Amino acid sequence: MTDQPQPKKLFIKTYGCQMNVYDSQRMAEAMATEGYVLTEDQAEADMVLLNTCHIREKAAEKLYSDLGRLKPLKAAHPDLKIGVAGCVAQAEGEVIRDRAPIVDLVVGPQAYHNLPAMVRGEAAAVNTDFPAESKFDHLPRPLATRRAPAAFLTVQEGCDKFCAFCVVPYTRGAEVSRPAARILAEARDLVARGVREITLLGQNVNAWHGEGADGRDWGLGRLIRALGEIDGLDRIRYTTSHPNDMADDLIEAHGAEPKLMPYLHLPVQSGSDRVLKAMNRKHTAAQYLHLIDRIRAARPDIMLTSDFIAAFPGETDEDHRDTLRLIEQVGFGTAFSFKYSPRPGTPAAGRALVPDDVADARLHEIQALLARQQRAAQDGMVGRRLGVLFEKPGRLQGQMVGKSDYLHAVFVPAPQAGVGELVEVEIDASAPNSLVGRLVA
Ligand code: SAH
Ligand code: SF4
Ligand code: F3S
Repeated sequence: MTDQPQPKKLFIKTYGCQMNVYDSQRMAEAMATEGYVLTEDQAEADMVLLNTCHIREKAAEKLYSDLGRLKPLKAAHPDLKIGVAGCVAQAEGEVIRDRAPIVDLVVGPQAYHNLPAMVRGEAAAVNTDFPAESKFDHLPRPLATRRAPAAFLTVQEGCDKFCAFCVVPYTRGAEVSRPAARILAEARDLVARGVREITLLGQNVNAWHGEGADGRDWGLGRLIRALGEIDGLDRIRYTTSHPNDMADDLIEAHGAEPKLMPYLHLPVQSGSDRVLKAMNRKHTAAQYLHLIDRIRAARPDIMLTSDFIAAFPGETDEDHRDTLRLIEQVGFGTAFSFKYSPRPGTPAAGRALVPDDVADARLHEIQALLARQQRAAQDGMVGRRLGVLFEKPGRLQGQMVGKSDYLHAVFVPAPQAGVGELVEVEIDASAPNSLVGRLVA
């Protein structure tokens, strides 16, 4: 036995959106250069990193209840380092250490390339800068982790939209696009390591633009076509989009690029023009519906998903009915809905709230309607042939599970198949949260 030093163990808990999932992976890679390996067991960790979300009050409060639960662990292991990253770190900075003194480090989403230096004690323990240089220039090359065949790739960050309810423009800063050449290189790198599906990420991903290989300013549609030329990359997705940034060439790409999956998450928030205006969404319900028509003309089998906020300040029963009507008119494959949560520092924060019982009832009504639509969309897959990318073995012997073109989980008997295989599956049955199918010979 040599007495090599034991690697240090890093436990990361990720809250919030896919961008945080991507960021957690990149922080793990940055910490790997410091000799840290990931652990799934918080109790054996030398460092615990909480990558936080500030979007709704409940999301933000989770941080403090988790920190409360970490106190005994820190008492038992005084050397344990506790770091807070992500959007609460950005929004609250130093305040986190005042409220929870067990926290050693606070690092914002644009500063986490400094994490190794912060852990070594060579950089300030709180860093929420929006540096002039991109963190991406200082991070190690991304790893395709755990042989996962599907990966995220951040192409754009930040938001200039300033919806009246939303903290993202404050926690993630202004819209910034990564250069096309960097994105294409990262995508090729991921594919060389076995990735077959890439989801392009951005808080406003369809606002992405940059200079392309031909010297012209590309939009997301053109970037997707360039990614489509990468051999071995079979599937492309992107999230999250704003309706006002659905450019013509992006809509066209849905019809022209076979690797772009027939699935689009396009948040609308409300079906009432009055509320949309108060939210500063800068489009009407009719404009959204027209956009949906154009997208469906380009790709008739596309599945649409969305986000809704129930009981935005000033919302009337009639406004709420407008939202239900819009949902009926579109027919979503699935959607997320939330009760409005006032966020400090946002324009809507001081406005009078809709009474809580009314808000709960509206949310419930929206969710019930969306659940019926989700069920119908899923049941509608039965009898269809879909692509399925196998991600892991299923619960049963010889069974594999993967994602369909529409992101449904699909269970398939396939004893000979391996993770990362893209197969054609005929769907036989629709279970509560998944589909069951068989391989098409
Ligand atoms: N960039 C994306 C969404 C970011 S946040 C977009 O523009 O759509 C994800 C979702 O959280 C939003 O679409 C919205 O439905 C919800 N959300 C954001 N702020 C909220 C708040 N203060 N209260 C309730 N829901 C909120
Ligand atoms: Fe938030 Fe609106 Fe920006 Fe989406 S577009 S991140 S909801 S401010
Ligand atoms: Fe949450 Fe920040 Fe994402 S607030 S939703 S983690 S951008």
